[in-house]
Amino acid sequence: MSLRSSYTLLAPVYDWLIGPALARVRAQSLARLPSAGAHILINGAGTGLDLPLLPATHRYTALDLTRAMINKAQPRRGRLDLQWVQGDSQRLPFRNDSFDHVLLHLILAIVPDSRAALRETARVLRIGGRVFVLDKFLRPGEMAPLRRLFNPLMRRIVTRTDVVFEDVLAGSPGLRVIDDQPVMAGGWIRMVTLEKITAQDLPGGSSSASSFSGRGQVSQTTPTSSATATATSNKNQINPFIAPRLLPGFADA
Ligand SMILES: C[S@@+](CC[C@H](N)C(=O)[O-])C[C@H]1O[C@@H](n2cnc3c(N)ncnc32)[C@H](O)[C@@H]1O
Repeated sequence: MSLRSSYTLLAPVYDWLIGPALARVRAQSLARLPSAGAHILINGAGTGLDLPLLPATHRYTALDLTRAMINKAQPRRGRLDLQWVQGDSQRLPFRNDSFDHVLLHLILAIVPDSRAALRETARVLRIGGRVFVLDKFLRPGEMAPLRRLFNPLMRRIVTRTDVVFEDVLAGSPGLRVIDDQPVMAGGWIRMVTLEKITAQDLPGGSSSASSFSGRGQVSQTTPTSSATATATSNKNQINPFIAPRLLPGFADA
């Protein structure tokens, strides 16, 4: 089963399973956001449990792989200036340096290639921008026999349980750790803040046109009169090589 299929099945019960358990640390994590005026990527936005806690003083782009999760999230937009993109965190359909900050709540340890997801996050982030991570990570050398035993099954249906954050970070030398705190589950769940200090020569950069092909599907929460209007308003952020297919069927919140 693919992660997209399993999250399609999980969408109706996701909030019930995850919402209350992580409410405290989610609020704690979002308190790290700056106060105003930034363009923030919500990477792996899920059912939008973050949305009601976000300040309306920023502009947001929310990306997720699973249409059923995005559909659940739509009513949570409230007053936020927010655009939806259906796409893959491991191959983001955005230009280099598109965002001021990126939220990574429960996505880095979920995707099959965590290194690629963080590398892509670094690529689309401007220098000086921050990454706000909240996820489950093993420490280097930590045995965690049960988590490693169940990982082959778990990674197919919901999440990897064997991800060592330090290994993931090693693939993104342009990022440095600002802060790293254990927040739950005996330190398995950590809140990490990263800052982009240098650009890096990343595969899939803006010089690599073909690698962006068909990476994302775009929808806006603000109604537009035509597909052209939507594409035009996205031009500063969406990579020009992807020719995004618009999703008129997405209900505006
Ligand atoms: C555990 S949920 C986290 C959702 C949300 N960030 C939260 O904190 O509740 C993981 C989300 O990642 C999405 N996902 C899985 N693989 C993905 C990928 N390759 N690219 C983007 N999103 C992905 C799933 O559809 C799901 O919505």
